[in-house]
Amino acid sequence: MTSLSPLTPHPSPSAPVIAIDGPSASGKGTVAALVAEALGFHYLDSGAIYRATAYAAERAGIDLADEAALVALAGRLDLRFDAGEVYLDGQAVGDAIRGEAAGSVASRIAALPDLRQALLARQRAFRQAPGLVTDGRDMGTVVFPDAGLKVFLTASVEERAQRRYKQLIEKGFDASLPRILQDLRDRDARDAARSVAPLRKTDQALLLDTTRMTIEEAVRQVVDWYAGRVV
Ligand code: CDP
Repeated sequence: MTSLSPLTPHPSPSAPVIAIDGPSASGKGTVAALVAEALGFHYLDSGAIYRATAYAAERAGIDLADEAALVALAGRLDLRFDAGEVYLDGQAVGDAIRGEAAGSVASRIAALPDLRQALLARQRAFRQAPGLVTDGRDMGTVVFPDAGLKVFLTASVEERAQRRYKQLIEKGFDASLPRILQDLRDRDARDAARSVAPLRKTDQALLLDTTRMTIEEAVRQVVDWYAGRVV
């Protein structure tokens, strides 16, 4: 897997794309990164762009309801991905943006249509040879509507809460399972109800319910689907 700066000026509109969308804590990021590794493709975690934008906005003291200021910020954001780390103005912010609080703020600003529009080109610039695996909410519907393979990856909300809890504890964050469950329900509702790029499975996307699947099984399924489509 190679990490790219979205500013690298070699986007390739014909490079194949695997778009993996789904709700919070479904494991889509882990699966997408491993699929990218298996295929030797690039990987884009689009949620990290929303999280980093939210983080930068808070740091700059921007009112999260001030869409024009957020759009201007998005346009000048110095954001780089390298070897699994996220750099904002040259500073590693991976840990700072991964927490639940950062996720909630990201989900709030992600409901703003002009901000989503401002982040489109930045995401599309990741489409580079030999191919891209990307995960988010609207990768297959808005950002890469011509993706060769679209997957809607999900799991029950209880299973997702357990996974997120385990992940946070392992990273040394404070976590409460009931609070995570409530936050996931709120976030699902907000992501699905927003007017622009709502989270939803389209007819084109293949459903992958990972409630009773291991990560390896999920990765194998996506790679098999992709192989079935390209041969
Ligand atoms: O890890 P988790 O799925 O909770 O979050 P994430 O994928 O890092 O995304 C954080 C928030 O950004 C989500 O709750 C979405 O509201 C938003 N997002 C979005 O609107 N569109 C995307 N393509 C990716 C994330």
